Amino acid sequence: MSAPFLGVFDSGVGGLTVVHALRKAAPHIPIWYVADQAHVPYGGRPLDEVRGFACGISEALLANATAECVGVVMACNISSAVALPVVQAKYPHVPVLGVVEPGAQAAAKRTRNGRIGVLATEGTVQSGAYRLALRRIAPDYEVYEVACPAFVPIVEAGAEGSEAAREAACLYLHELEAHEVDTVILGCTHYPFLLPLLRRLSPQFVYIDPAEPTAETVGQMLSSLEVLGTPRHRLFTTGDVGAFHAQLERLFPDLLLVSEVKSARWDGDQLVLD
Ligand code: DGL
Repeated sequence: MSAPFLGVFDSGVGGLTVVHALRKAAPHIPIWYVADQAHVPYGGRPLDEVRGFACGISEALLANATAECVGVVMACNISSAVALPVVQAKYPHVPVLGVVEPGAQAAAKRTRNGRIGVLATEGTVQSGAYRLALRRIAPDYEVYEVACPAFVPIVEAGAEGSEAAREAACLYLHELEAHEVDTVILGCTHYPFLLPLLRRLSPQFVYIDPAEPTAETVGQMLSSLEVLGTPRHRLFTTGDVGAFHAQLERLFPDLLLVSEVKSARWDGDQLVLD
């Protein structure tokens, strides 16, 4: 058996922003990360289809025969919105966490005027997950959700500095400015890569990245877990391994130094980790 590991997944490179935070909060834990790049972007797909992908990936991590999975983090807002209760119910003895609840809690701590914006994919907006989570904290919050379909393809292509990125960001931020929100949740794990651009265009907002509060919770939960040696990580993609390697080299070269990059493939609705 290999060392116990924490399973983390997203549709693509976005969830690596959560891995980055997890490596700070729980540096002793090996991570197996799945990027479902065969299906990226998830955001415009039917919610049932996304639920199927998220359940298939969770299953492959939790039920694998080669190492013990000590927990799963859905580093994907839309998966957290539509699949979290299903996987939690199936695996009640293993912690399974999403990013929506920690993101909503963090925003609630920072807002002063109770007007909160959410930038997210179409599916996450459609699910209403952030609105519901925020209203559970305070029923009188005004929540404005803006779907940003252009952002994920821009980040996957490494085009954060392009004119297309600037134009899309201006459009989405304009809606939130009109509603006078003071706090903006980055409701998709790809968006923190666009944070320098967003801050330049609308510096008046407090931006909330759910990755950090999520990672802190995981770090506390797994603090007593003993794993010997320096963790080695496994980074799987259901897409092209060479292209994923190049993305990692650009985004997180330090992570690449302590990781193996591997392929994963779908066999019907089952995910096979090679
Ligand atoms: N990064 C994911 C999220 O947080 C999915 C984005 C997508 O593939 O559309 O929602």
